[in-house]
Amino acid sequence: MAVIQMEQRDSTIVALLNAMGPYWTLVIPLVLAIRFTYYRYASPLRRHPGPFLASGSRAWKVWSTWSGHTEMDHIRVHERYGPIVRIAPDELSLASPKAAREVLAADKGFHKTDFYKVFPPPENPDIFTETCEAVHAVKKRHASNPYSMATMHTMAAFIEDTQRLLVDKLDRMCKAQDQYCNLGNYLHYFAFDVLGEVAFSRKFGFLEAGFDVEGAIKLIDDIQWYDGIMGQISEWDYVFRRNPLCKYIPSFDIGNNLVTRMALDEMAKRKRSGKPTERKDLLSQLFDAHAKAPEAFEEGDVFAVAHGAIMAGSDSTASTMQSFSYHVLRDPTIYANLKKELDEAAAAGKLSDMPQWSETQALPYFQACLKEGMRLRPAVGLNICRLVPLEGAEIGGQFFPGGTRIALNGWVLHRDKEIFGHDPETFRPERWLEGDAKMMERFMFQFGGGAHLCIGKNLALLEMNKTLPLLFRDYEMRLLRPDEELQYHSTFFVVQSGLEVRISQRRKA
Ligand code: HEM
Repeated sequence: MAVIQMEQRDSTIVALLNAMGPYWTLVIPLVLAIRFTYYRYASPLRRHPGPFLASGSRAWKVWSTWSGHTEMDHIRVHERYGPIVRIAPDELSLASPKAAREVLAADKGFHKTDFYKVFPPPENPDIFTETCEAVHAVKKRHASNPYSMATMHTMAAFIEDTQRLLVDKLDRMCKAQDQYCNLGNYLHYFAFDVLGEVAFSRKFGFLEAGFDVEGAIKLIDDIQWYDGIMGQISEWDYVFRRNPLCKYIPSFDIGNNLVTRMALDEMAKRKRSGKPTERKDLLSQLFDAHAKAPEAFEEGDVFAVAHGAIMAGSDSTASTMQSFSYHVLRDPTIYANLKKELDEAAAAGKLSDMPQWSETQALPYFQACLKEGMRLRPAVGLNICRLVPLEGAEIGGQFFPGGTRIALNGWVLHRDKEIFGHDPETFRPERWLEGDAKMMERFMFQFGGGAHLCIGKNLALLEMNKTLPLLFRDYEMRLLRPDEELQYHSTFFVVQSGLEVRISQRRKA
């Protein structure tokens, strides 16, 4: 049906171009100009301020996403135009964390937009890419047990396996003459390998190799950059990646990636064997969910969800650990405070060699640093976007017409002075110890919110709570370039580079 509709649309376009004859070079710009003028001056959203280009076309959003620093553009436009900014003809960005909570609330009828449809696999949407709320709710319900904190604790051993490998690598760097460590890269390799273990009981081999094998991580980042841009103009995806000719362009062939190949391979192996695996990893738990409800949670969903976990969970967790490390190492007082807390806990026998979840929950300064990192530099750099229900909706006392896209950017929301204090640009863990931490936490969006709250939150928190205290207790690290900002660009996630340190042993475990 969809194919027939596409063919009809294509033939209508060809017929129109024929009818225009040689005048199309004039007619098309004229139509675009009329459309731009209509959006700018006659659309119901015209009263909202914003960049000129954004009021009549999606070009501002495309350009901003392409630039890799859309989160900074959003901060700037809110500073200039106020709390509601028109960032595309049909899209408004909101800066208020209170309004964001209303938009994301599960029962308000806001849907994900077609932005998400671009993210692969389009033929079998996973929990992240599914835009139909009813279908999404069914998929999420079946996948939620494998992601629960209780299940995650049973997977702690998988994380520890990978931690041991990381420690082994860092120990070697401590003994090297230059004591050089690209901590950012190693955290990235670690996050991918942990997810390989958790999802498929197999590491991808990044840590072992000490480099981005086959450029797989870079390829995933490039694909996500493409997805982020194309998500702003999703119909153009049919011209590019979904164009049948594109399967001949290797960089567009997602299935060719090491991570996807390994996931497909593991899936095929399990299906061939037909027996339950010894380790209850994510894939085997998803197979169990499929066995219990084969029609509601299909076999395709098993792969989509397990594979989606790698795509959604690796860059995000790595980025959060990198932000934490960078900000702590950059400030000698904060670094000293953290080491003191970790040393005291270790000396009191309250921090095991492999730190446990319950132990790290009792480290208030560490928790404050972690929250502050997620506040100042949330791992998702692009907006998350929702559609106002057809009948329209009131948000924060203002009415928004049905079909309006509402964009929420964590970098903007987490800088709200009313919620987070007068100095939101500063990395200051103390704000979580002296202020109303419970209230601030209600307005943190690093894991999204409502019905679409990150399903991997428990895993990410477990992984970070086990790994960061271990690193900061056992190693002394010094930034190679303490005066330089950490380099990054936003694809969907904030992909960072340049977190390089000199590393030495602090405590022999
Ligand atoms: C620190 C690490 C992480 C951060 C900061 C993070 C952030 C987010 C955010 C902001 C969303 C909401 C997106 C939206 O509404 O458009 C989200 C959703 C999601 N995340 Fe995460 N994530 C992290 C780790 C993980 C992990 C480890 C996994 C999987 C193993 C994962 C899987 C997902 C999925 C499947 C969704 C879609 C949920 C839904 O729509 O119901 N994430 N994440």
